[in-house]
Amino acid sequence: MHYIRLLRPAKIQSSAGGLVASLLFTITTDLGDSFLCPDGGSIDLVVAAEDSSADPADSAAAQRRGRQACRYKWKTGMRVLDAKVKLWPGLEKETVNCRIAIYPTQQRPRENSTPLGALHVGDVLPWRIGAGETLKMGAVMPATFEFVSGVCAPVSVRTLGLGTGHTGGDGGGDEVLNLQFEEDIGESIARHIWDAGVVTSAYLADACSSLESIREVLPIENESFNVLELGSGVGILGITIASILPKVAAAQGQTLKNARVLLTDLEEAEERARSNIAKTETTLARNPKDGAHVTIEYENLDWDEGREGRFGSLAAATPWDLVVLSDCTYNMDSLPALVGTLSALHAAKEHHLDTGDSGPVKSSVLLATKPRHSSEEALFGLLKDQSWAYRVIKEIPLPKIGDENEIVQIYLLEKGGHIV
Ligand SMILES: C[S@@+](CC[C@H](N)C(=O)[O-])C[C@H]1O[C@@H](n2cnc3c(N)ncnc32)[C@H](O)[C@@H]1O
Repeated sequence: MHYIRLLRPAKIQSSAGGLVASLLFTITTDLGDSFLCPDGGSIDLVVAAEDSSADPADSAAAQRRGRQACRYKWKTGMRVLDAKVKLWPGLEKETVNCRIAIYPTQQRPRENSTPLGALHVGDVLPWRIGAGETLKMGAVMPATFEFVSGVCAPVSVRTLGLGTGHTGGDGGGDEVLNLQFEEDIGESIARHIWDAGVVTSAYLADACSSLESIREVLPIENESFNVLELGSGVGILGITIASILPKVAAAQGQTLKNARVLLTDLEEAEERARSNIAKTETTLARNPKDGAHVTIEYENLDWDEGREGRFGSLAAATPWDLVVLSDCTYNMDSLPALVGTLSALHAAKEHHLDTGDSGPVKSSVLLATKPRHSSEEALFGLLKDQSWAYRVIKEIPLPKIGDENEIVQIYLLEKGGHIV
């Protein structure tokens, strides 16, 4: 998949015709190691601005509320594009409150999916994309930027549209729950979203509609089901799981009480992850049919500490039903600490549950990866050495525009108990 990324915070500039927003952006892979190079020579992009003035009673603001948009082409060989979108007349720079999205026109319009530049989960799942659609060639993750009082925050927002399984009030199609994830403008591994996180989130949200599929990946056996995420980054996987858990539980005949999802990562991820948790809580509170009653928390957890059994108070307090992680196995050097942390979480669970005669304690881990290099296979030797059983439960092809297709693999790891 490719991602639209700003190279610097967007700016408001004066021009002869009034104010314009200027956005210098690129389109690269998640790792930023190659630029989008479309096979057909170019892809069409829309840059659209929407007034986000808070007060609907402000009639002047209401008058200028119409969407401003212009079109650009991203051509093979391009590395940056400097887009300018004209803003509404009569504005002073300091009074500009608006949202600007950049997205490819290939993205299908979705019913009830209102935010600009949302990527629907179906756009990355091959079995949801129609034969003739250009999305078959690969998706481009749109980006949205917010101006408040003329200043653009140094974050971009990625919007993931999940089908909720509820029918719209007008009896229309499936309602869409739009989860928003802030990520940094600039280089940082922990403060960006990555392909395996996006694809696995999309897969889990989609699998909710099939009892068989969801039971295999998210089996819910108790009403206080709890999930720990390692290396959560901005939180896309854990937050998506928290948002779909009530639906997943209902499909399995369970009603959740005190369900929890704990995101963990290094300290540098904390600010973005906490901010995304707060955004999600606001979204879910507006959609009480969805995950409002699942607690989402964050705590720092460095695998170098975790492998020694040293956990923060939240991670240590619970025998976790499920541990999840995505795109955390690309660096061979950190694999021993990561696998050591999984084993230490298993040991902590055994200590918590101390089941006596009722048999050994079992731990389950959902691990998603987009294999990037053969050195990553060292993971499986380490897992074997520490008595983890593993199997692939889903492989999802990930087409990439102008390049070789990739794949996201979802593994189930199990240790202890009766392993099937
Ligand atoms: C490629 S990112 C994936 C982020 C997220 N899971 C996703 O799919 O978008 C890898 C994550 O692992 C985290 N990480 C790397 N080494 C770590 C360590 N020693 N302890 C805890 N987290 C670590 C990074 O901070 C980063 O957030």
